Amino acid sequence: MITAVRLAHKLMKECIGTGDIVIDATAGNGHDTLFFSECVGDTGTVIAIDIQEEAISSTRHVMEHHQRNNARLIIGDHADMNKLLKEFEGRIAGISFNLGYLPGANDHTIITKTSSTIAALNACLNLLHEQGCISAIAYRGHDHGLDEAHAVEQWMGALPAHDWHVISMSAINQSTVSPILFFARRKTTQGSMT
Ligand SMILES: C[S@@+](CC[C@H](N)C(=O)[O-])C[C@H]1O[C@@H](n2cnc3c(N)ncnc32)[C@H](O)[C@@H]1O
Repeated sequence: MITAVRLAHKLMKECIGTGDIVIDATAGNGHDTLFFSECVGDTGTVIAIDIQEEAISSTRHVMEHHQRNNARLIIGDHADMNKLLKEFEGRIAGISFNLGYLPGANDHTIITKTSSTIAALNACLNLLHEQGCISAIAYRGHDHGLDEAHAVEQWMGALPAHDWHVISMSAINQSTVSPILFFARRKTTQGSMT
């Protein structure tokens, strides 16, 4: 089945490779972190951030279970990525957001919020290197999620065409509120893309 997560992984895989540094800005249950950890290999690093301790401990468990030890796990707000990850400015190959709440958690009030999501997207501009990419999946099935998806679309749509390739993808024969994937890739300074 084609899902937003699978598409996001395929596109991210095009941009990241062995030895790269990737940020999972919404670690959650660690599935994306594990995928990126395998993409970048033992010489690469995944920095996984989540605002909830529960999510980070879930991610740690998944990584240990799969014997992966190339992730740095951070309990924190992705809106603060510029401060938290200052040493990585201009060094990141890809940054992933899988928005919403932690699947399986009792408390669904801990959810990504439009203001912090946009602050985190702004931070990506400093962190990514040439040809780096941003992937963001937004869930439009509830009011807040719909507003957040619109804000991400506006932010992505405002990236200058000279410097970025930007696309969005969603199912068009299903509910109008199915998950939507936004994907942006920074061009080289020459403006081309490999
Ligand atoms: C849909 S889940 C992520 C799924 C995850 N990538 C996976 O593979 O299981 C969204 C996550 O975003 C986290 N989150 C919400 N607000 C956040 C924030 N401001 N900074 C960092 N993480 C946040 C939630 O705690 C939740 O775990």
